[in-house]
Amino acid sequence: MTTTKAPVKPFRLLLSLFLFLTAALLLSRSTLTRHFSTSSSASPSLLKIRPGLRSYDDYLKLQLNKTLNPRLRRIWTTRDWNRKVSVFSRFFSELREAGFLSNASRALCIGARVGQEVAALRAIGISDSIGMDLVPSPPLVVQGDFHSQPFAGASFDFEFSNVFDHALYPERFAGEIERTLRPGGVCVLHVTVTRRGDRYSANDLYAVEGVTSLFKGFDVARVRKVDGFGLDTEIVLRKKKRRR
Ligand SMILES: *[C@@H]1O[C@H](CO)[C@@H](O)[C@H](O)[C@H]1NC(C)=O
Ligand SMILES: *[C@@H]1O[C@H](CO)[C@@H](O)[C@H](O)[C@H]1NC(C)=O
Repeated sequence: MTTTKAPVKPFRLLLSLFLFLTAALLLSRSTLTRHFSTSSSASPSLLKIRPGLRSYDDYLKLQLNKTLNPRLRRIWTTRDWNRKVSVFSRFFSELREAGFLSNASRALCIGARVGQEVAALRAIGISDSIGMDLVPSPPLVVQGDFHSQPFAGASFDFEFSNVFDHALYPERFAGEIERTLRPGGVCVLHVTVTRRGDRYSANDLYAVEGVTSLFKGFDVARVRKVDGFGLDTEIVLRKKKRRR
């Protein structure tokens, strides 16, 4: 009898060892993700990085999945095009009337996909404008990652983005805008604080301060409600001029 039972014990031992190691691995992985998540300098009650993206490569794959989707790209360049360009034209015209933008502004649209925002800027007479996204879309959009913009410091007078929710490292997103804007330059962000983003969002924003607290070298010039393709809040920030 003992001889038949004997092999069971080492098996159980192995099983519990296996379970323990699996649990330990899962635990350390979630700790890693949590550690990654709290790297933002905004308070976690204002801005949260979504868990589940284990590496920057995972993140890139997720973003490229949407950006390269042929069905979406076709929609963006056809059915979507005129409607978006006309709505963006209204937003930018209004910002120009309010003095945040001029025909002479050098303007950048961050996360511009196929370039509807850039087309809008050019249509209303802001000709020195360009877009940037992970995938280039010539001639309106050049390749670049907003975590590390491919531009020299003080390159732009104006930067616009409606993809803040895609930032895996929001403090770098803000830092790069601060670096590439000239002193006195304006950054306009369209965000949502009431709805959740889609499955491509890398962060969730709970209050405007989750954004503005990242822009240390800026004054908040204006915050207002807008109706911008699922995004409900416009934040206008002006980079401070260097103190004498
Ligand atoms: C995106 O992901 C879906 C499933 O998650 C897959 O079917 C599709 O091929 C991917 N597309 C690209 C462009 O990577
Ligand atoms: C800006 O450009 C638009 C379109 O070309 C033009 O109608 C407008 O008069 C220009 N504004 C100024 C101040 O030059």
